[in-house]
Amino acid sequence: MQVLGIDVGGTGIKSAIVETATGELLGERHRIATPRPATPEAIAEALDGVLRHHRWEGPVGMGFPAAIQHGVVRTAANVDKAFIGLPLADYFSEKTGCRVFAANDADVAGMAEMRFGAGKGHSGVVLIVTIGTGLGTALFSDGHLLPNTELGHVFLENGQEAERQATEAVRVTQNLSWKDWGERLDLYLRTLERLLWPDLIVLGGGVSGKLSEYAPMLTTQAPIVAASFLNRAGVVGAALLAEGR
Ligand code: BGC
Repeated sequence: MQVLGIDVGGTGIKSAIVETATGELLGERHRIATPRPATPEAIAEALDGVLRHHRWEGPVGMGFPAAIQHGVVRTAANVDKAFIGLPLADYFSEKTGCRVFAANDADVAGMAEMRFGAGKGHSGVVLIVTIGTGLGTALFSDGHLLPNTELGHVFLENGQEAERQATEAVRVTQNLSWKDWGERLDLYLRTLERLLWPDLIVLGGGVSGKLSEYAPMLTTQAPIVAASFLNRAGVVGAALLAEGR
């Protein structure tokens, strides 16, 4: 099945047409800046442009950077607070005229990795951490997802919220070396390890391609690997949402 996968992030909106049977991108990945403020109306307008770019009228799968409980947005750390309480997929379906399916961005990236990527065939507990503007998490046990884990918002032993310490956005704005940033990420991953005891940790987002730069700083007991889809996991996983619906 061909689906337009859209990964709405705090900084960019990425999209591509995806063949859901293989996870393959059928064409270029397109990226535009997320409008600021990222209100529902502004994002709906940006989505119209995305649909026009791909000349797409078919089903759309969307990863969105918020907890989405039974279709309703519950949090808004990196988008406008006006999203809270919105039935996301229904809202964008009505605005765009396409059938939209939506879920948390890290959860969908995790779905792509579990099905086709670094988590494929892994039983036990797999933790996916997506690192970008925010810190997203997806938790799988024997391939089953526990949705909306929101573990980017845990507090570390230094009293700081993880999302304010170890994102890609923080690395860039504070101009941190890979070593300093890697140590912060390590503190975060060790905190999660103590709570969840994952068998495997998969890192996604832009920095997953740079894992070799900060791998020496990572000291968890669980092995850590980069997402096979790197930064594309969100787009591929989003498309999977539309399958079988
Ligand atoms: C949000 C999560 C999201 C993550 C990555 C966090 O700020 O609360 O829902 O998965 O950012 O985008």
